[in-house]
Amino acid sequence: MSHQKKIEDLRYRKAKSRQGGGEERIAAQHKRGRLTARERIDLLLDKGSFREVDAFVEHRTNDFGLDKQKYLGDSVVTGWGTINERLVYVFSQDFTVFGGSLGEVHAEKVCKLLDMALKNGAPVIGLNDSGGARIQEGVVSLGGYADIFLRNTLASGVIPQLSAIMGPCAGGAVYSPALTDFIFMVRNSSYMFVTGPEVVKAVTHEEVSFEDLGGAGVHSETSGVCHVATDTEADTLYLLRKLLTYLPQNNMEDPPYVTPTDDPLRMAEELDSLIPDDPSKPYNIKDAIHLIVDEGQFFEIHENYAQNIVVGFARLGGHSVGIVANQPSVLAGVLDINSSDKAARFVRFCDAFNIPIITFVDVPGFLPGTGQEHGGIIRHGAKLLFAYCEATVPKLTVVTRKAYGGAYDVMSSKHIRGDVNLAWPSAEIAVMGPEGAVNIIFRKELAQSEDIDRRREELVSDYREKFANPYIAASRGFIDDVIEPRETRPRLVNALEMVANKRDANPAKKHGCIPL
Ligand code: HXC
Repeated sequence: MSHQKKIEDLRYRKAKSRQGGGEERIAAQHKRGRLTARERIDLLLDKGSFREVDAFVEHRTNDFGLDKQKYLGDSVVTGWGTINERLVYVFSQDFTVFGGSLGEVHAEKVCKLLDMALKNGAPVIGLNDSGGARIQEGVVSLGGYADIFLRNTLASGVIPQLSAIMGPCAGGAVYSPALTDFIFMVRNSSYMFVTGPEVVKAVTHEEVSFEDLGGAGVHSETSGVCHVATDTEADTLYLLRKLLTYLPQNNMEDPPYVTPTDDPLRMAEELDSLIPDDPSKPYNIKDAIHLIVDEGQFFEIHENYAQNIVVGFARLGGHSVGIVANQPSVLAGVLDINSSDKAARFVRFCDAFNIPIITFVDVPGFLPGTGQEHGGIIRHGAKLLFAYCEATVPKLTVVTRKAYGGAYDVMSSKHIRGDVNLAWPSAEIAVMGPEGAVNIIFRKELAQSEDIDRRREELVSDYREKFANPYIAASRGFIDDVIEPRETRPRLVNALEMVANKRDANPAKKHGCIPL
């Protein structure tokens, strides 16, 4: 064969590999309203930056007539490229080849990529669209999954790992995405479950659709498995790009600094009137976040799950930060099982990747009730406490209103290594709210009182006057300064720069035993 012929042969092979399962199956994929593995990569990465590896890999199975069905590259496309000119590794399962199912070589390709990403310190993005274990390959597929699970786990906390679910994701296959840091799903087009509707029906006699069992709605609102749900694949791919702008490449780097167009000294007068005069009235903490952060841009995580706490990424004076905020407009901002889990996971991610944590506190306490106690609020609340205690990244706290009881301690208080703790004049920092306190301390007096309601009102008002303010905590140094709400942005930017070279460490250990 002449050199020219060899080059043509190479081109032919590459073109064939790019065809995946062929025209018909590509058309079927489009008919399902889904993009192909390669179209997704093209949308995700900077134009022309993708470098594929293992395009010539073929499966080695001969059973069930598979020896006559070989596809160059098999059922996953792998390689690296850039997003906003920063290196990322991508694997994209190709549903047009054996339904994207995972056999021996599919697993080997993904493992090779994860090994490269870990060695070279860059994020991995997995685009999942697969019928699960390749049935014809049997136990080899299970081994392949486990090889991936191990690598996901070892890479956790070293490089960011992002998963997008773009089609089916079932059985044990859900556990690779579940081991990664963030899961994105597409509404009405993707689903995740351990056992599908048919098995559910056989075992529990429940009739449930794919969507109701494991669609994006269920996982972004009820189970919390999904962090970001979007309407289209293109939206998911766009948001994956955006999320990476807040993250470092690996745990040895700081997150990227972006020169702000928003003045770091900008005041936000609207904040002065955000808190209602009546302390039992709600307000939306996201209004405060938008007014404080650069250009009002907030990348929310778990937007529709456990909405009594808000978490997400933003920039302050160009520095990437993670924000955790109680949400007074949902369940009065109480801490409960789901909000504790949600925030604990976020705090640990930020700590692992050197992203300073800004905490806005307005929390009346933990949610009372048998549902919470029996569900293990003690154990779940302890996760958030543990996460904040162990975090050594810069921690800045602003108490906007209530900070009561154990929840005061949990929410990045001074005592658990808050670096700068600020409060607004509307802050109420005390062991419990005035009503609860009066009912306990003055129980006997109230029982003997002739006009119990009037007397209770007086006592509550006295208590509020004396204790429901930031100055007792400030007199102890638990609060570093009481600030005007409008100054919050410049004060936080300044504090962030003050702690930029913070050094703190935990005692040497293999790992802590977070109360899971
Ligand atoms: C081999 C598979 C496959 C699989 C799909 N295909 N899943 N081939 N192994 N697991 C093939 C189909 O034969 C078909 O091939 C093509 O992919 C497209 O599949 P369709 O069924 O035509 O597509 P659709 O109607 O969209 O249904 C998609 C699906 C369904 C819901 C995913 O294919 C399905 O239920 N597949 C089986 C899912 C499953 O039970 N997997 C094993 C789970 S156990 P042709 O040639 O016709 O195009 C598991 C354990 C993992 O995953 C444990 C890890 C620890």
